[in-house]
Amino acid sequence: MQYTKNNSKSRKSDTNTLFICFSSLLVCLLVLAACKPASNFALTPTPIRQATITVEPTASQAPPTLRQLADQQKWLVGTASDPAYLTNPQYTALLDAEFNGLVGENVMKWGRLSVERGIYDFSKADVLMDYAARHQMAVRGHTLVWDLQLPDWLTQSILTRDEYKVILKEHITTVVGRYAGRIVAWDVVNEPLDAQGHLRQNFWFQAIGPEYILLAFQWAHAADPEAQLFLNESFAEGLNEKSQGVYALVSGMLEKGVPIHGVGMQMHLRLENPPVPEDVAENMQRLAELGLKVHITELDVRLQDAPGSRDGKLVAQGVVFEDLARTCLAAENCEAFFTWGLTDHYSWIPGMTGKDDEPLLFAENWQPKPAYWAVYAALRDAILAAQP
Ligand code: G3I
Repeated sequence: MQYTKNNSKSRKSDTNTLFICFSSLLVCLLVLAACKPASNFALTPTPIRQATITVEPTASQAPPTLRQLADQQKWLVGTASDPAYLTNPQYTALLDAEFNGLVGENVMKWGRLSVERGIYDFSKADVLMDYAARHQMAVRGHTLVWDLQLPDWLTQSILTRDEYKVILKEHITTVVGRYAGRIVAWDVVNEPLDAQGHLRQNFWFQAIGPEYILLAFQWAHAADPEAQLFLNESFAEGLNEKSQGVYALVSGMLEKGVPIHGVGMQMHLRLENPPVPEDVAENMQRLAELGLKVHITELDVRLQDAPGSRDGKLVAQGVVFEDLARTCLAAENCEAFFTWGLTDHYSWIPGMTGKDDEPLLFAENWQPKPAYWAVYAALRDAILAAQP
């Protein structure tokens, strides 16, 4: 009796299984037929500037995430983070799903690593590095030489030029050496130029002279010959005096044989005044002609000073993100697209300006914004365009 009952149940379940298999096969065939050209994902192109028409999940197949598209395109889509955030499951679920790149927003800065001369505490930076390794994320190292967020023992010191050289070399050698082979790109020198494109008379310029930049790259290269070494600068994305200064500086470094591999374009932008995409493309191209890569390193688009309704600004923000994503994807040398924070909640901007803002890809409630779908559409179109 028992056997018969089980047997009839199992026949029923066989029939169900057959039905499910047949339906799934039918759905797969329909998806394949609709999906031309063939791709790993069912993608359809959207016209430029209609990025906000969404890619809705279907019953049969969830759409790929931004990260999955980025992996397919061999493009780094990253974000700035902090080890303190990595214990929040909502945060990590979004991070893991959508990003294949990570950078410490503050955790690798000198003042965080070494509050006493010669003593380093890597425990927090290690948390970030280990997390990235466990989740197959590429890490950008930020930053070795900057005049902000330095330890007090250093800023309060009065030493000779040679002593400062020893200190800087020790720092670079220690930090780059610790993570050798695990950092895809280092921001070796951060923000060395003023708005006119001249070297800023910052702490390191005064301590060592203009050579601090060349020396920093040489020491970083010696500590990790495989790491890509970047000069990271703000407001030098389009064509202006500052980007001309970056171009002149890195050209001079290459002529001297300094090991530099790329330029970081920070891109802390304002909605009312974004760079002209064609200028960014031209800037990227002239760096490509020098043999240099470009990474977009700290992208955010602040809304607080722009006129208009919130909804209108969010859509316009999407257009800025989309333009930059398309520009980067079209450039032969632009390999990374990092935003400066995961969701609007984690942006540095409200803390700095004292005003609310929504500058990133995801809203405070973790939901994707028009900016997300804009980058998504740009990436999807780049993948489709590359298919035979
Ligand atoms: O963690 C302390 C906290 O303990 C303390 O109570 C609080 C009081 O002010 O400060 C907290 O530290 C702040 C830290 O951010 C973390 O929130 C620092 O004061 C503050 O100076 C620091 O700001 C960082 C800023 O760099 C420093 O200049 C921002 O988070 C960080 O987003 C920003 O990032 C820079 C890039 O490194 C280089 N490019 C520009 C970009 C934006 O300024």
